[in-house]
Amino acid sequence: MTPPDPFPALDWTRADFPLLRRQIDGHPLTHLDSASTAPKPDCVIEAVCRFYRDHTANVHRGVHVLSEEATEAFERAREEVASFLNASPAEIIFTRNSTEGINLIAHSLDLKPHDEIILPALEHHSNFMPWRIHSRAVPIRLAPDGIPHYEDLDEHLSPQTRLVALAHVSNILGVVAPIEKWIDSAHRRGVPVLIDASQSASHVPLDVKALDCDFLVCSGHKLLGPSGVGVLYGKREKLEALSLYQVGGGMVKVHDDHQFTTQDLPWRFEAGTPNIEGVIGLGAAVAYLRRIGMNTVFRHSQALGARLVEQLRTLPGTVILADSAPLEQRIGLATFTLHAPGWGSESVARNLCDRHQILVSGGYHCAHILHHRLALEGTVRASTHVFNTPDEIDRLVAALREFTGG
Ligand code: ALA
Repeated sequence: MTPPDPFPALDWTRADFPLLRRQIDGHPLTHLDSASTAPKPDCVIEAVCRFYRDHTANVHRGVHVLSEEATEAFERAREEVASFLNASPAEIIFTRNSTEGINLIAHSLDLKPHDEIILPALEHHSNFMPWRIHSRAVPIRLAPDGIPHYEDLDEHLSPQTRLVALAHVSNILGVVAPIEKWIDSAHRRGVPVLIDASQSASHVPLDVKALDCDFLVCSGHKLLGPSGVGVLYGKREKLEALSLYQVGGGMVKVHDDHQFTTQDLPWRFEAGTPNIEGVIGLGAAVAYLRRIGMNTVFRHSQALGARLVEQLRTLPGTVILADSAPLEQRIGLATFTLHAPGWGSESVARNLCDRHQILVSGGYHCAHILHHRLALEGTVRASTHVFNTPDEIDRLVAALREFTGG
């Protein structure tokens, strides 16, 4: 990993995001909450509207021209997403979000209660709870600043291990995890690996073939795309081996009184009318990121992450999670607690909005276990995207100084 260069100038992207022109109480907003859900560029909004306006029709079912057009746009989006991840289109299954992708795998691996899934204890509910209800989740312990003891993986791998599952970038730490090492260790024991790329997919270049991960999930809404659409990538042979998830229209070729035969990949796992406009919007979002270039996006995100952490360190008493991680491993996301007696994380976040029009997250960010283990009663999280600027980080930190003094 190379150290961050000076900021790649991505300010020009701001004009593409209409939400950034929104005002609160007559003032422009500072959007530092993309980890929760990201604003959408005009090209995504237009792709969704164009579908409604010009093509509204079902996919893979109709025989008329609108249905042909809808199917073509839908499958073109699949090709776009496949190129983005360096996968083949048959390996890209559209889901509702990362959560559904993980639940699909947890269901369709036919896990038994004694099967073990190893994961870092910091994982988001969605990469923790499915493993708990289908099998036994084995969490890897955390250092006091939240970084998992990744080196513990080998001692936890056992004949009971069915899968290793981890976030590429945790939604709390904002640090790129050593997934290559985990994939290598797990594969040496014949164990497949699922990567939760919810937070990384629109910040870090991804190549599923080079990574050699078995499954990978991400959500459209954090990738500058619509809500209610996500991606499950799986190696073809791993997807072929899964049992069926949801059944119904679209995933079946023939259904008679005695039997049914299923569609080939990827449609076998896409029962029911899909989120057609969402998929098309996601294709536009991915194309937008590819036009900027994911290496540029990553360098920009690294540089904002470094600035965020360096500036937060100047606030007396502020504790930044994963503060010991090298700056070049960070994306533009930092989670922290302030020394501000009487102020909880949610009231800090609300106050930043009401007094400064700065949008951040406050609370537990769907990672209760991490917060319990670190004895934290909530945290504040600032997170960036391509349109954010260093000035916005400075504005945040100046506003936070009102709580901490110093
Ligand atoms: N998983 C999202 C977050 O981290 C909702 O805020």
